Amino acid sequence: QVAERLTNIRAELDGAIAILTMNRPKALNALNDQTLEELDRIFTCLEREESILGVIITGEGKGFVAGADISQMQSYKSEEGRNYANRAQALFNKIEALEKPVIAAVNGYALGGGCELSMSCDIRIASEKAVFGQPEANLGVIPCFGGTQRLPRLVGTGIAKELIYTGRQVKAEEAKSIGLVNKVVPAESLLDEAKAMLRTILEKAPMAIRYSKVAINRGMDVDMRAGLELEKDLAAITFGTEDKQEGMDAFLGKRPAVFHNR
Ligand code: HXC
Repeated sequence: QVAERLTNIRAELDGAIAILTMNRPKALNALNDQTLEELDRIFTCLEREESILGVIITGEGKGFVAGADISQMQSYKSEEGRNYANRAQALFNKIEALEKPVIAAVNGYALGGGCELSMSCDIRIASEKAVFGQPEANLGVIPCFGGTQRLPRLVGTGIAKELIYTGRQVKAEEAKSIGLVNKVVPAESLLDEAKAMLRTILEKAPMAIRYSKVAINRGMDVDMRAGLELEKDLAAITFGTEDKQEGMDAFLGKRPAVFHNR
């Protein structure tokens, strides 16, 4: 039902995979209020919908997302800027925290809020045409949809500072070399590559993927000792699952495992 009431995003199902296509190509899919609201609605639905096991986000046309909508922000002063950042950060946190794998299939411009959207996903696969960057300094502001925090965590502080201070755009191959993307593929096979990787992930025990994600995400925010405590607790949960028994029985029985997400 959510999919029927969207104007700026196309939401489709391919089996257990939800494919979200940012779809305001005339503005290179820039994030206006309507698009942010639609993304929020979709992710609320994805949190609840048990039949959907993984998500791909991509863009229509030559943009993935060319950032926050500049025409909308033009009139903002300090307080509105804060509210805007607050709202987008909450949304991107929600995307990052979804306990299902989310892949960004970056087809084109991923600038500003678009780069930040891709970084709230678990994995980034880029088409050869993808371009990444944080150009906010050109506009007199700083990245504030999570970019000052997520970019250095992905590429290190030195490269993150260079990219944020200079606003330099980075093409797909360079993005891979600095660790911003996982894989670069031909434009025409982008979606197939993203689906193939997601299907490989979905063949594994779903709870193992879910708790790996929680352990990695929360672990990045705490010190090593707390992260290892969390890892131990989450490992204990997985050892108690039926899928753990199935996985280990199948290995020892020399047969493929059949997981049931329990
Ligand atoms: C609103 C945008 C837009 C954006 C592109 N468009 N990006 N509109 N907000 N972020 C619109 C253009 O105005 C234009 O509309 C149409 O999309 C096509 O763009 P062109 O510039 O004509 O295309 P091209 O020459 O190919 O250049 C592509 C581009 C350029 C290099 C991506 O569009 C660009 O630099 N865009 C801005 C990127 C940016 O600075 N993003 C960061 C925003 S700040 P018309 O009507 O003329 O056809 C951000 C975080 C801010 O994301 C957080 C602060 C709170």
